[in-house]
Amino acid sequence: MSTKDRSPIRVALLGCGTVGGEVARLLTEQADELAARAGAPVKLVGIAVRRPDKHPELPQELLTSDAASLVVSDEVDVVVELIGGIEPVRGWLLAALRAGKSVVTANKALLADHSAELSEAADASGVDLYFEAAVAGAIPLLRPLRESLAGDRITRVMGIVNGTTNYILSAMDSTGAGYSETLDEASRLGYAEADPTADVDGYDAASKAAILASLAFHTRVTAGDVHREGIADVTSSDLAAAKLLGRTVKLLAICERVNSDDGVESVSVRVHPVMIPRSHQLAGVNGAFNAVYVEADAAGELMFYGQGAGGGPTASAVLGDLVAVARNKVLGGLGPRESAHAALPVRPMGQTPTRYHVSLDVADIAGVLAQVAQVFADHGVSIAAVRQRDRHSTASLVVVTHLAPDAALQATVDEIAKLDVVHEVVSVMRVEGED
Ligand code: NDP
Ligand code: HSE
Repeated sequence: MSTKDRSPIRVALLGCGTVGGEVARLLTEQADELAARAGAPVKLVGIAVRRPDKHPELPQELLTSDAASLVVSDEVDVVVELIGGIEPVRGWLLAALRAGKSVVTANKALLADHSAELSEAADASGVDLYFEAAVAGAIPLLRPLRESLAGDRITRVMGIVNGTTNYILSAMDSTGAGYSETLDEASRLGYAEADPTADVDGYDAASKAAILASLAFHTRVTAGDVHREGIADVTSSDLAAAKLLGRTVKLLAICERVNSDDGVESVSVRVHPVMIPRSHQLAGVNGAFNAVYVEADAAGELMFYGQGAGGGPTASAVLGDLVAVARNKVLGGLGPRESAHAALPVRPMGQTPTRYHVSLDVADIAGVLAQVAQVFADHGVSIAAVRQRDRHSTASLVVVTHLAPDAALQATVDEIAKLDVVHEVVSVMRVEGED
């Protein structure tokens, strides 16, 4: 039977905004090629949006505001969800999966907290759940973790996974542009979430980190397990201090396999601003681009790089998933299932080894350095480098530490801030990429 003669794979699209609009366009414009790759025509049979009257550009006969009915319609085989947020989408996708529809979604917020129940519903119905677009936009990253590296032991996943904050930090670093004007531009370009505080406060990156850690370490990690700090407190002084030292600031997601002294294995998952050397490969990742390092025992180091946000790049990943689902339907079979067999514990942030860069304004008098160094020693924190610059009656002191438990570093900074000789703690930032 020729591809064209096969029954079409019937697709319901939920949401037709920045990403959904591109998916709808490409489904129409590339219909023949997609059919050839999928093995059957891939046909859009319904589009649910919040305000159908605002979409004169879409085929009116496909439009509905009743997503709940569309997802369980007998006329639908696959549901592509591009609305975002948790409720009511969670309920709709569970209903779709229970009704035997495969699901493709880019919704990291939902997956980070509910992938277990969604995966279980997919398994129970014998249908697919694909979500490549949920992390790092166009970059093929989840499929390599789920499939290509399924035979290896991943030890670390670290990278830039939020385009909006990377766009802001890149602009602050290169042009000294203000924070809010850059955020407005990121929203206009379609990178930011509907509520951009999800980007700026690190929630979006934390959801992605939870998904990455779950896949990399075969362990269920939710957004609540991720230590999260955003970029709202990163100032132009931080960036200037970083620049002086040949570093820059990035918001990184870091997922690590950690062994305690007694050999107990756990995972540490965190999102926070980090100072990295300007020579580090992640320092050159600018704008809405994302880049993720993966380290595995046998494979060694891998790096994934590309556009992490925006309608076109994200639609590319969605359509890749849709073709995979369609192929599975045509040929029979299913994509990879959830793998959570390792069930490793999540290590609290306070016990996670990190390194700090601390910049202080101190009195320019004898014994200051000794007092500051004593506080580090009292907390068992070893100093890697110290740099002092005199001003008139004050001095600028920069201390970079070796690895120490994050709680010890935090306690050190809190105590240093109380010293009479310390006028101001100018900047405190974790350091990566210098070991
Ligand atoms: P948009 O805000 O641009 O679009 C959201 C769409 O959902 C709109 O068409 C809206 O309808 C529709 N919608 C909202 N509420 C409802 C509802 N109750 N019922 C039916 N339709 C509804 O979002 P994006 O396209 O930017 O993002 C979509 C998803 O993709 C999110 O999960 C996001 O996190 C994810 N994503 C986005 C990326 C990006 O770069 N933008 C990148 C990677 C993932 P209407 O048009 O009528 O308002
Ligand atoms: N708001 C997200 C970002 C979209 O800026 O990275 C891509 O997931």
